[in-house]
Amino acid sequence: MAKATSRYVCQACGEAFLRWEGQCRACGGWNSLVEQIVREARRPAAGRVPGAAGPVVAVPLAEIGSHEIARVATGIAELDRVLGGGIVPGSLILVGGEPGIGKSTLLLQVAAGVGGSVLYATGEESAEQVRLRARRLGLLEGPAGEAIRILPEREVGAIIEAARQLRPALLVVDSVQTAVVDALDGAAGSVGQVREATVRLMELAKGEGIAVVLVGHVTKDGSIAGPKTLEHLVDAVVTMEGERYAALRLVRATKNRFGSTDEVGVFEMAGTGLVEVSDPSQAFLGDHPDGAPGSVVAPTLEGSRPILVEVQALVAPAGYGTPARKASGLDPNRLGLLVAVLGRRAGIALGAHDVYANLAGGLAVGEPGLDLPVALALASSLRDRPVGGGVVAIGEVGLLGELRAVSGLERRLKDAVRSGFRTAIVPRPSRGATSVRVAGMDILEVATLRDAIEAGLSPRSERRGDALPAMLG
Ligand code: TYD
Ligand code: MG
Repeated sequence: MAKATSRYVCQACGEAFLRWEGQCRACGGWNSLVEQIVREARRPAAGRVPGAAGPVVAVPLAEIGSHEIARVATGIAELDRVLGGGIVPGSLILVGGEPGIGKSTLLLQVAAGVGGSVLYATGEESAEQVRLRARRLGLLEGPAGEAIRILPEREVGAIIEAARQLRPALLVVDSVQTAVVDALDGAAGSVGQVREATVRLMELAKGEGIAVVLVGHVTKDGSIAGPKTLEHLVDAVVTMEGERYAALRLVRATKNRFGSTDEVGVFEMAGTGLVEVSDPSQAFLGDHPDGAPGSVVAPTLEGSRPILVEVQALVAPAGYGTPARKASGLDPNRLGLLVAVLGRRAGIALGAHDVYANLAGGLAVGEPGLDLPVALALASSLRDRPVGGGVVAIGEVGLLGELRAVSGLERRLKDAVRSGFRTAIVPRPSRGATSVRVAGMDILEVATLRDAIEAGLSPRSERRGDALPAMLG
């Protein structure tokens, strides 16, 4: 049995101290240290006693055997792609997302799709509640009803014990915030508890070769159960995003030791669970009004997947005080920067205006190529002149108002053509680079933000012949 001793762990940042102090020396938080029992010594790895036995041998890189990593397919193609082909046995995966986004639903579907036996430990819901959800998903009849074992349990020791006995292909722990380690005093959900629970489940995963999926609720500031406490411990972090009251859900890996972090999976929350959207190109467009001022469609690229998104902007004269700058689905700092560049380099003065910008459909996109569509949408809203129907725009904006190329332009534009867009405003290729040609697409290459606004808002690009309000312009 490991020797137990106590540490004072900061509940805000997770730092541990030997003595109680009023203020955490690491993060400066007041009264945040809580006494917790921690094991003094970890069990030594099997077959090696520390300080004894022979020399440790490092293996030359070239001599390491090249065996393919075996993976367990989840049966959900969109998720398998995000994971890099499936779940790796013995790995620990954290599935994060806001409460109510659909994590439990997804994991129950995964549990059914894996095919082998699955242990589903739930500390959030009763077994009855899980059964009701399973019925809604149509999983009660059929093999899943037998293969999935529900364990309404919060104590990590008991969950691990059950997993050792059952030896499932997959263990789901829903959620890490409700998991408790009995040896600790802290309440469930405290940083110490969450971290210790994760460490123990990781030992189970590595020791027994059981894949473990942890559900983690994301706190308001967007972190999973405290500042980065878990992310470095686990092998992969999969996040679910989307608007709770809209149907589309985006699943992406923000960390993945067994695959890339580029890919996204798109789902729709339906009455019978999450349904895969295998061609999401237009999923986030909805029925956006053609020719509404402040709306610009951007051909974004998520991993290898082109997705058209609609950027919406609204600018309005500000009242008293500092004007508002609000972004949703977009980087707010980037928005502030674009407002400044528009003012200084493109003659679009927004200093005395409230500025709102968001992506339709609850999508969050981080790519810099969104700069140009956002800037165009702001200019369009200020001037109250629409960007014509059938136009897409993409490009990064530099501080001097110059436009910079984006990767995969051809793929993006081909996809936009397929969705009926006929004009694209793109950065002029730098010297030496060749222009992209796409059949059916009129490509306007522009060097600066000013030129892009000129091209985008001028009546010339009004393919649909939308009448411009006469008093504007
Ligand atoms: P849930 O998986 O419980 O979210 P989380 O575990 O992330 O907190 O999903 C909750 C929401 O999903 C809930 O508001 C109801 C909705 N839902 C559906 O729309 N269809 C379904 O088939 C299911 C099971 C849930
Ligand atoms: Mg849940």
